[in-house]
Amino acid sequence: MENSQHNRTLSVDIGGSGVKVLVLDITGNPLTKRSRLETPQPAKPLSVIHAIATLASSQGEFDRVSVGFPGVVRNGVTQTAVNLDSDWVGFDLAGVLSEHLGKPVRVINDADMQGLGAIQGKGVEMVITLGTGFGSALFVDGKLVPNLEMGHHLFRKGETYEQQLGRAALEKVGDDKWNRRLLKAIASLQHLFNYDYLYIGGGEATRIKIQLPKNVKIVPNITGLLGGITLWRD
Ligand code: BGC
Repeated sequence: MENSQHNRTLSVDIGGSGVKVLVLDITGNPLTKRSRLETPQPAKPLSVIHAIATLASSQGEFDRVSVGFPGVVRNGVTQTAVNLDSDWVGFDLAGVLSEHLGKPVRVINDADMQGLGAIQGKGVEMVITLGTGFGSALFVDGKLVPNLEMGHHLFRKGETYEQQLGRAALEKVGDDKWNRRLLKAIASLQHLFNYDYLYIGGGEATRIKIQLPKNVKIVPNITGLLGGITLWRD
């Protein structure tokens, strides 16, 4: 497909603290510099959509849009949004954003999108993201098991993975304790999923100081946006 139609994908990563965008070419390489705005507070659907539209207007031309959303997404409709606002429950993000931008829009979970940019496509691959929340994604031979929500499952001491390892916990207990918890979480996930590889992304992955097992790799946060190209490969 050498014509210019559908060559440029605006990739959007909606996070609990920042909304980030950049434009990808047909092979998934970035064509623009990433731009970011603080996530509006309260993070209601229309405020976030306005932030995306503002960011989009600084990115030049694009033909279609991929969005990573921090909650469960089914057919473009957001079903949960623990770190944003309850107005997102049952919101047609793909439809409403498409009307605003005048382009086709596809939406998936943010950790799923991060994973699509990180995996190699062989064996059992797992992805976790460390940011405001705790994201998780699972792939078998490159095929996504959508909307895995490990973050809200019980981890230890009566708390979930997100309660123990999300940004609020990191700020509360500090780097050392958070790093020790992370090592326990990695062991627990290995035990449960027997993954071949685990990738760790998200804004707080830079705070990791522990020696990681050989099959665990840190991926840059921009991977969350680079995964956007895969939403249009069907
Ligand atoms: C949400 C997940 C999301 C993760 C990271 C969690 O609170 O439930 O869907 O992937 O945060 O943003």
